[in-house]
Amino acid sequence: MKASEIRKKFLEYFKQHGHAVVPSSSLVPDDPSVLLTTAGMQQFKPYYVGKADPMRDFGSRNATSVQKCFRTSDIEEVGDRTHLTFFEMLGNFSFAAPATQECSDGGRGGYFKKEAIHYAYDFVVNTLGIDRERMYVTIFAGEHGVPEDKESFRIWHEEIGLPKERIFKHGRADNFWGPTGNEGPCGPTTEIYIAANAEDALAGNGVEIWNVVFNEYYAKPDKTLEKLESPGIDTGMGLERLAVMLQGADTVFDTDLFLPVVATIRDAHPGLDDKTVRVLADHLRSSIFLIADGVRPSNKEAGYVLRRLLRRVLVYGIIRDIHADLFPLVLTAVQQVFGNTYPEITKTNEISDVWVAEKTKFEKALALGVKEIEKYGTISAQEAFMIYETFGLPFELLQELVPAKVKGVRAEDIEAEFKKHQEISRAGAEKKFGGHGLLLDTGELKAADEEELKKVTRLHTATHLAQAALRKVLGDDVHQMGSDITAQRARFDFSFPRKLTDEEVKKVEDLVNGAVQQDLPMQYVEMPIEEAKKTGALYFFKAKYGDRVKVYFAGHDLASAFSKEFCGGPHVTHTLEVGKFKIGKQESVGAGARRIRFSVD
Ligand code: ALA
Repeated sequence: MKASEIRKKFLEYFKQHGHAVVPSSSLVPDDPSVLLTTAGMQQFKPYYVGKADPMRDFGSRNATSVQKCFRTSDIEEVGDRTHLTFFEMLGNFSFAAPATQECSDGGRGGYFKKEAIHYAYDFVVNTLGIDRERMYVTIFAGEHGVPEDKESFRIWHEEIGLPKERIFKHGRADNFWGPTGNEGPCGPTTEIYIAANAEDALAGNGVEIWNVVFNEYYAKPDKTLEKLESPGIDTGMGLERLAVMLQGADTVFDTDLFLPVVATIRDAHPGLDDKTVRVLADHLRSSIFLIADGVRPSNKEAGYVLRRLLRRVLVYGIIRDIHADLFPLVLTAVQQVFGNTYPEITKTNEISDVWVAEKTKFEKALALGVKEIEKYGTISAQEAFMIYETFGLPFELLQELVPAKVKGVRAEDIEAEFKKHQEISRAGAEKKFGGHGLLLDTGELKAADEEELKKVTRLHTATHLAQAALRKVLGDDVHQMGSDITAQRARFDFSFPRKLTDEEVKKVEDLVNGAVQQDLPMQYVEMPIEEAKKTGALYFFKAKYGDRVKVYFAGHDLASAFSKEFCGGPHVTHTLEVGKFKIGKQESVGAGARRIRFSVD
C-alpha cells in the first residue's frame, strides 16, 4: 500500500466516523513553550482545556489529521533502519467540553476510551488488513498516584476479544504520554503493537504502531497533575512505520516515502555507505520541510536545529568527498514525493536560497574556525561555546576535528553554556526539548585533530595528482570511480581492467613526485559547468554537479596544468606540501575496476 493511500484511507475512515479532517499545522507551533511540532495533538492543545471551541472551528468535537512532526530526541539514532527527525503522524482526536462551558453543542459529541479503542482496532484489522493474531497491546499499570487503566483492559479483552496474554501492563515510563512543552494535556495510553507472527505477539516482540492517549490530566509547569474537567482523546500513528510494514520494506528508507530521495543521493555519488545515505536523506528532507515552514538557520531555538542539520550535511560532504550539490537534487525528489500533499515545499527558489546562504557561511566558518582552534591548547566548554557562537563550528565538529583538545568537555557542559545563553531568550531551549540533547554527532569525520585534517587535505591533493598520473601512464580510459581518505589510509578506485605492473606503479609514483617537487600552486577557478567541461578538467562521471563548478588545478595556469578536476576542495596551496607519494597495495574491486592504496610522507 502506497503511503499516499495510507494517508487517504486513514482520513476517510475517521471522516466516515464523524471526524472533521483538519490539515497539518506548521512545524513551527504558536505555543511558546515548544520549539517545533512534535505530535498531532500540538495544534489541538487549546481544545482539550476548553480554551477554544472545536464546534466553532471544525463543526465537530472530533478531528483527524496527518501532521508534519519533528523530533530531536532520536537525532543520534538517525542513520539506522528506522529513526528519523521529520515524520508524519496520523491521528484522531476528541475534545469533550467541560460541563460548565458554554459551547455551541452544549458539550456533546466527544468520545473516550471505548470508541477510541474500537476505532483503532477496526482500522488496523479491517481497513489495513493486518492479521489480528499478530497484534498485542499495552495498557497503563498504575503508578505515582495515577490508577491502573482497568477499563481499557476490559475493552480490549471483553469487547474486542483480545486474549489476556496479549495485553501487557506498564508504568509511567511506557504508558503515559505528554505534555508537549512545559505544560499541557497528558494521560495514560494504550498502545498497539504488531509482531511478525502470533508467537512473537505472545512474546511481546513487535513494533509499536499506534499510541492512543487518554488525556485525563493537565500537567502544570511544576510537573504536578491536575484532573482535566473533561477528558479527551489524542492518538498518533507513524506513517513511515506503517509504510514499512505494509510495503514489506526492509527499512524506512526502502519505502516509497524515501526511495526517490535515496536514489537521487546514490545516483549523485555512487558508493556511499548506507549510514551516510540515510543521514543525508533524513537531514535534507527535514531541513526542506523546516525551511518551507519559515525556519531559518540561526544560533537560536528552531533555527539552531536547522543549522545543525544543514551543517551535518555539509560535514558529511567534506568527509565523503561528495562533489555533487545534493540539496537542489534532493529538493526535486522531495517535491516529487510530497509536493501534492504539502505544497509549501514547492517554493523552490526561496528554499534553495536558504541552503546556498548557509553553505557559503559554513565554508567561511570552517576556514576561519580551523585557524582559530590551532591557537588553543585545551578548549573549555565556555571556549567551545564561544567558537560555536563566533565561527559556527558546532561542538561535535570540534570533537571530530580536535578530540584531544576537547577531551575534558562533556556534551552536558556545552548544553549548560547553551542554557545560560538561552535564559535571556524566551525560554531555555533545553527545556523545550524535554531534556533531550541538542547536539548532533557528526559521525564519521575521520580527521582526529588539525594535524590529521592537514594530512587528509594532503592526501586529497595527492588523489588529484595520482589520477592525472594514472591517465598519463595507462591512458585516458582511466576514470575515478571512488575514493576514501582518512588520515590513516587513502584509497582510490578507478576504471582499469588489470593489475598495474611494477614498472607502471613506479612511473605513476615518479610523475606524482615530479609534480610535488615542482611545488606547483594548487588553485581553482569557478565557472559555468559547460565551460568547465571544455577545459578538459576531469569530473567524477557519475556525480551530478550544480550549474557552476570549481575546477581545481595543479599548475600555473589551467591550460598547462598537471592535473585539473571538478572539486569542492579543500586542498593544499602548493604541491610540495603533499610530500613523497607512494603506492601501496593494489586490488580488484569488481570487473574493470581497480583500487590502489597510497600514502604521503
Ligand atoms: N500524542 C501522542 C504521540 O505523539 C499520540 O505519541
